[in-house]
Amino acid sequence: AADEGNDLRTPIVAVLGHVDHGKTSLLDKIRGSTVIDGEAGAITQHIGATAVPLDVISDIAGSLIDPSDFDLPGLLFIDTPGHHSFSTLRSRGGALADIAVLVVDVNDGFQPQTLEALDILKRTQTPFVVAANKIDTTPGWNPQEDTPTLQTIEAQSERAENTLNQRLYEVIGELSDNGFSADMYWRVQDFRGNIGVVPVSALTGEGVPDLLTVLMGLSQRYMKEDMAVDLTGPGAGTVLEVKDERGFGTTLDVVLYDGVIRTDDTVVVGAKNDPIVTEVRALLQPRPLAEIRTEKRFEQVDAVTAAAGVKIAAPDLDDALAGAPVRVVRGRPEEEVVAEVEAE
Ligand code: GTP
Ligand code: MG
Repeated sequence: AADEGNDLRTPIVAVLGHVDHGKTSLLDKIRGSTVIDGEAGAITQHIGATAVPLDVISDIAGSLIDPSDFDLPGLLFIDTPGHHSFSTLRSRGGALADIAVLVVDVNDGFQPQTLEALDILKRTQTPFVVAANKIDTTPGWNPQEDTPTLQTIEAQSERAENTLNQRLYEVIGELSDNGFSADMYWRVQDFRGNIGVVPVSALTGEGVPDLLTVLMGLSQRYMKEDMAVDLTGPGAGTVLEVKDERGFGTTLDVVLYDGVIRTDDTVVVGAKNDPIVTEVRALLQPRPLAEIRTEKRFEQVDAVTAAAGVKIAAPDLDDALAGAPVRVVRGRPEEEVVAEVEAE
């Protein structure tokens, strides 16, 4: 995989869906499953993102995954807010993503922001799967913590299984009404032509092994070529948010999708008028939860490699725009990079 100086970067997975349908809970569940032993790489929290390495995915997925089938390093999840007022943030997250998870509450079905997310995915042609969440709320459900979907369905009464199936077919029907052919994920052969529906519970972890397996398979199968990038090249990313941070002034929350960014790098950032050309003062990552003290929420790092979320502190960022590109100037004339940012 590492021929021609190319590495495989981590695919970016946007988590989209209507408010309260369980996007953050799903990521919490995945984060909570980290096994901390010497060998397994840990899940790391980034600015606006969560990196889950392949060995952790393989731990959670158990017998569903053979890690030797994969050479992608893992998955980088971007959580997005479901509230209607955050439409630009969702749109940005969707546009950045290599693949996506559309989270739908099986009781609540399709809602306005579910439809909005579908439009974003259609427009950006992002491959996605549907996580049909909260299956544990099915009347008479007999929860089987952290087990694969088919195994937990086998443990249910006929009545509970029928109720769940009815709800799942409503989800499949809604997808079809919106122009997407869909089926239960285990019946899908070609995930580009058909949307796989994965029944899950963010509360009990049921189906989470399946969801990670499907996402990993989808990335490996269809994204691998796009993931072959030069991870030592000049960094490129997208601004998710422009934020004031005490002690650092105006900072950028960025998802880096290509190359590397280092402190002291000159960067070009899209802005209200002309692009900003500035020098990186600090690259910030959240500290592990256990270490957070009131005055030191961030850890400074020297370099960040794609794909990752990072907070960039630099002078003159006041006019930077959320959604705008960020490019590292390295080994190229500055004007060329400015022109590139202007054109985007
Ligand atoms: P926004 O970020 O506001 O768009 O919401 P969200 O999609 O991130 O939803 P969140 O994870 O905050 O969950 C909303 C509520 O649903 C919380 O009270 C969760 O505990 C609950 N919830 C989420 N997933 C499940 C699930 O699988 N089963 C059950 N029973 N409750 C769930
Ligand atoms: Mg949330």
